[in-house]
Amino acid sequence: MSRPCRVVVLISGSGSNLQTLIDRAADGRLPIHIVAVISNRADAYGLKRAARAGITTRVLSHRDYDSREQYDEALAALIDAQEPDLVVLAGFMRILSQGFVNRYHGRMLNIHPSLLPLFRGLHTHRRALEAGHTEHGCSVHFVTPDLDAGPVIVQARVPVLADDDETSLARRVQGQEHRIYPLAVAWFAQGRLRLGPDGILLDGHLLREPVQVRPDEDLPDEPA
Ligand code: GAR
Repeated sequence: MSRPCRVVVLISGSGSNLQTLIDRAADGRLPIHIVAVISNRADAYGLKRAARAGITTRVLSHRDYDSREQYDEALAALIDAQEPDLVVLAGFMRILSQGFVNRYHGRMLNIHPSLLPLFRGLHTHRRALEAGHTEHGCSVHFVTPDLDAGPVIVQARVPVLADDDETSLARRVQGQEHRIYPLAVAWFAQGRLRLGPDGILLDGHLLREPVQVRPDEDLPDEPA
């Protein structure tokens, strides 16, 4: 891409993943231009993060619409007005209609706090603890109509410690989210990552398994 990749970020809450993208774009490590941040909740703290960075913000409350399809149509209109190359879901806690997902096929990413295909949906940290798993993590995937079931690009794993509770485990996983989401977004922005008819292509090669990032590994776009 000759111009920086235009990105619209959708949020519902704190926006810590958004903040990582803002910071990395600002210091030149991520070749993206965040053109707008849209939230379905007016009280999402991420809106303040965006405003602080001088990014256009929009609130589109789902409460103002009678159906999911109507909401998603209005959301798509807001997004399309920004002419983005990529839509980034960063804690956007809405189930998306099929029409909406298909409209952004191959250009919408999501981060999910589990090692997909494990623990789709909500309360992933609690469920990993209850299942007695010794390993947990997060995944970045292309969004497809089935919830949290799109092709996975990259994952990071963390150990589950004996004294972990939901909060401590969530914190450790989020630390890794903040590493792998910028990585996947950078690959897309650099034109290295795309969704082909047979699956994910990274640097022209079909990705048979998600890229695995170790918690302590130096990432290519991180300073030494
Ligand atoms: C993140 O942990 C993300 O993985 C999760 O919401 C959180 C948002 O945090 N997303 C999902 O559960 C989507 N199914 P943030 O607002 O601080 O980035």
